[in-house]
Amino acid sequence: MVKKKEVNDSSAPETVLEVSIQEPTPNTEPAQTDAVESAPVEEAKVSRRKKITNVADLPGVGEKTAEKLKEQGFEDMMAIAAAGTGELAERADLGEATAAKIIQAARDALDMGFETAADFLVKRTHIGKVSTGSNALNTLIGGGVETQAITEAHGAFGSSKSQLGFQLCVNVQLPPERGGLGKNAILIDTEGTFRPERIKQMAEALGIDPEQALKNVFVARAYNSDHQILLVEKLGDEIRKRNIGIVVIDSITSHFRSDYLGRGTLANRQQKLNRHLHALQRLADVHNVAVYMTNQVMARPDVLFGDPTAPVGGHILGHLATYRLYLRKSKGEKRVAKLIDSPYLPEGEAAFAVKTEGIRDTEV
Ligand SMILES: Nc1ncnc2c1ncn2[C@@H]1O[C@H](COP(=O)(O)OP(=O)(O)OP(=O)(O)O)[C@@H](O)[C@H]1O
Ligand SMILES: [Mg+2]
Repeated sequence: MVKKKEVNDSSAPETVLEVSIQEPTPNTEPAQTDAVESAPVEEAKVSRRKKITNVADLPGVGEKTAEKLKEQGFEDMMAIAAAGTGELAERADLGEATAAKIIQAARDALDMGFETAADFLVKRTHIGKVSTGSNALNTLIGGGVETQAITEAHGAFGSSKSQLGFQLCVNVQLPPERGGLGKNAILIDTEGTFRPERIKQMAEALGIDPEQALKNVFVARAYNSDHQILLVEKLGDEIRKRNIGIVVIDSITSHFRSDYLGRGTLANRQQKLNRHLHALQRLADVHNVAVYMTNQVMARPDVLFGDPTAPVGGHILGHLATYRLYLRKSKGEKRVAKLIDSPYLPEGEAAFAVKTEGIRDTEV
């Protein structure tokens, strides 16, 4: 088998920087709107000062800045309120003081600040779970791949990290009673390993129209780490417009690995990766979507006993992923998933199978 690992995409066109998600064929339901946008008009009337609901109306935001903010993916109040000062300043060409003022105004307008534990609980009741296709694997991760969270799967080649991503793109389309969210999927392919044929096969196996299933998966190829970052920065709008329930990134680290070779650039790489992951976490929170990302493993020559591999991305990924799975190959179609460092769930393992019809339980 010829397997191209460690793909260095430096040959890929650097200029392709526009968001290139395929054309929509929206899957029925209207996109969710933000709480702010749907706030009743009465509420605005009774409040002492008129409530700002539009980015363009924030103090310090002129026409040009509004345009720039939109261009950079800060298209709603929540995106601005959740941004960091340095990040907003850099991306919208603003001074730090202005950026801080704009962020503060957005936060005031949204009544951010403290949430009671009760509010927090309400938000958590909106968490959806996408079935992996295997009951054993679902149980291991608390019922399925969660919205408002990042789930990472790392493992050697062939451990079915990508297959699980494809399956989630199909399963998210199922109605809740069948383990889905009745929504669509976005897949960011960084390694060129996306296979629409697999989506078709998996959909057929579930009895859903394969052609429709394909149209409900919006795929973008990321050509390098900067392109990948840019795609994610612009994703908020796409998520809303296309009724998205899950964002799959396959893989999160490959470009960062090849774009930042050598020790000297490691700090720079980690800083970018950190910001990228925060952007993803924000998307998950703000839009109530699940984020599933695959990750490679690297050899650790310093380990003499035990497992000589470690996930790429270091502590940053470890801290930001809510759920981490280590996948490994077993006999034939059997795979084993190990849940690592979960703050909420006990460590454990689950066996599952990767079959022609997709991810399933292993036969006992
Ligand atoms: N049509 C199919 N029918 C059955 N099994 C399949 C099919 N397609 C792929 N597989 C299984 O999935 C495995 C590949 O898994 P996958 O591509 O998800 O690996 P990966 O962990 O993403 O690896 P890499 O690190 O190379 O990206 C194959 O080894 C094969 O066992
Ligand atoms: Mg893969």
